Amino acid sequence: MSQPTIESILNEKRLFAPPADFVQKARINSPEAYQALYDKAKADPAGFWAELAETELHWFQKWDQVLDWQPPFAQWFVNGKLNITHNCLDRHLTTWRKNKAALIWEGEPGDSCTLTYAQLHREVCLFANVLKQLGIKKGDIVGIYMPMIPEAAIAMLACARIGAPHSVVFGGFSAEALRDRLNDGQAKLVITADGGFRKDKAVPLKAEVDKALANNAAPSVENVLVVQRTQEKIPMEPGRDHWWHDLRQGVSAVCPAEPMDSEDVLFVLYTSGSTGKPKGVVHTTGGYNLYTHMTTQWTFDIQDEDVYWCTADVGWITGHSYIVYGPLSNGATSLMYEGAPRASNPGCFWDVIEKYGVTIFYTAPTAIRAFIKMGEHLPNGRDLSSLRLLGTVGEPINPEAWMWYHKVIGKERCPIVDTWWQTETGGHMLTALPGAIATKPGSACMPLPGILADVVDLEGNPVPDNEGGYLVVRHPWPSMMRTVYGDDNRFRRTYWEHIAPKDGQYLYFAGDGARRDGDGYFWVMGRVDDVISVSGHRLGTMEIESALVSHGAVAEAAVVGKPDDLKGEAIVAFVTLEGDQIPNDALAQELRQHVVAEIGALARPEEIRFSEALPKTRSGKIMRRLLRSLASGQEVFGDTSTLEDRSVLDKLREGA
Ligand code: WT7
Repeated sequence: MSQPTIESILNEKRLFAPPADFVQKARINSPEAYQALYDKAKADPAGFWAELAETELHWFQKWDQVLDWQPPFAQWFVNGKLNITHNCLDRHLTTWRKNKAALIWEGEPGDSCTLTYAQLHREVCLFANVLKQLGIKKGDIVGIYMPMIPEAAIAMLACARIGAPHSVVFGGFSAEALRDRLNDGQAKLVITADGGFRKDKAVPLKAEVDKALANNAAPSVENVLVVQRTQEKIPMEPGRDHWWHDLRQGVSAVCPAEPMDSEDVLFVLYTSGSTGKPKGVVHTTGGYNLYTHMTTQWTFDIQDEDVYWCTADVGWITGHSYIVYGPLSNGATSLMYEGAPRASNPGCFWDVIEKYGVTIFYTAPTAIRAFIKMGEHLPNGRDLSSLRLLGTVGEPINPEAWMWYHKVIGKERCPIVDTWWQTETGGHMLTALPGAIATKPGSACMPLPGILADVVDLEGNPVPDNEGGYLVVRHPWPSMMRTVYGDDNRFRRTYWEHIAPKDGQYLYFAGDGARRDGDGYFWVMGRVDDVISVSGHRLGTMEIESALVSHGAVAEAAVVGKPDDLKGEAIVAFVTLEGDQIPNDALAQELRQHVVAEIGALARPEEIRFSEALPKTRSGKIMRRLLRSLASGQEVFGDTSTLEDRSVLDKLREGA
């Protein structure tokens, strides 16, 4: 092979079979059942998805063609007509689910409400009629900049009901980020709230919208619809700004679902990309509905009795696919929580699980690492016996964090699904099926049915088992992104050209390194942009970090390379310690030795830098790019607008 791939040094051998009582009730309940489904999909992808589309979704009009694939542009269920809100709402009203809880919502201050399917349907229809009154028509893009309140989900569904693509911007983003996204999509309306409650404070949102729109900086926006949440006094601009509670008065709650073409845009969602302007990831209706519906069933094994809680914000793809569309399409009960662990109540998540008897809990490694730091006494002080399944998403999870999750939260009874996917993929790609596949800590396990995942070199050739390479997908799947909004070339360049098309076959590659082991399990090794090259060995960040985290003193670790005359790059590790640990040279030396003992001398960090916190994006991912600049003594360059807490960076600089 002419080019280096990535070397794997992680040696994780633990295996956890699905618990017998879980298997008993699971839809897919054996390795053979998984394999049969996988093989069926592989043999005839179009036939496989068509059968599911037929049996699992309601269509106003059937498609003429299942898949039209003009690489890299796919169309699924060509000329089919449907409305995702019909599948998420209307069709449940003719069943016993009419009065089942669709959304359970808990606010940070302790207020709460439950909306049944009938109630949610009514609210969505009413909201949709208000959108129409504000002049929103099919095809108009609507910006949504909301706290985690039911109206956020209602607004998304109302847009989908009338065929107005939504563009949700995470409420933690600044006015500038909001303005760029509104302008890129030429949004006509912004739906927001006066503010939301987060970490015991009323966080203003409308004020950010005002800043974003000031001086006519987002000229496409004609109106702002404001939901009252915090009751803080806010200025309202006459003619432009409208209170939701005013406009809804006297409005009809009858609003038929607009028949949408399967390929009509459902939403645009921006993903930062490491540099450059954010990419508007475009998702369309039919394929996205089907894939999020199926993966909610497969991955979460969702059942009617479940109380399912995904802790993401609706501003991320996780919230779109697995708080709103996937669960509701299945008629499940989805819990939304406004708050975050905070000084006044660091154990609030465990309170919510106890209060509602949550059965399925889906969160991120960054949250798990924070729970570990806060201590076991918090979850141990609550009754978590309702839980039956745990999930994680967003980053590779270090095996020791996985073990903690398994023991302390799951009490060794709950399978853990480690779901690898992306904003671009729309839904889960690699995961365990909890009733069928034994899990390995740190592995995202297997591709879902219909996902032809592989690990290849730069020329697209599969690499041998246990060698690292580029994680790719070989065949289109229903919820794949269709393009970058307004920029087909960027779509092609970013995802389809890094690995050259081979024999006319296009490979989807979105930036992660991985290896597959001899049992067919995938191990995601982190972003290939972050790979460190030591003496000609290309090492993924995740494995070295996992070795550090497996030391009892370490809470969190991020490793980066810095230029080194001899080795090419030398490893620098940024480490945060468990609460009771004191940073000193002896500990640094011990950690270096620990890494050597765990994975070998090659991975020995040249330098260990202790820090109180690591720089993260607002979605909780460690920003290694910034650490790389710091490690090599350079000024931090590039976009830092997605950084959650700037002071972390300043402190790291001072320490340098
Ligand atoms: C990137 C996508 C998918 C929703 C949340 C993030 C990383 C995500 C895993 C996982 C290892 C993971 C990848 C991926 N990632 N899940 N289970 N194991 N890495 O969406 O912001 O689009 O980020 O997150 O690097 O490419 P996103």
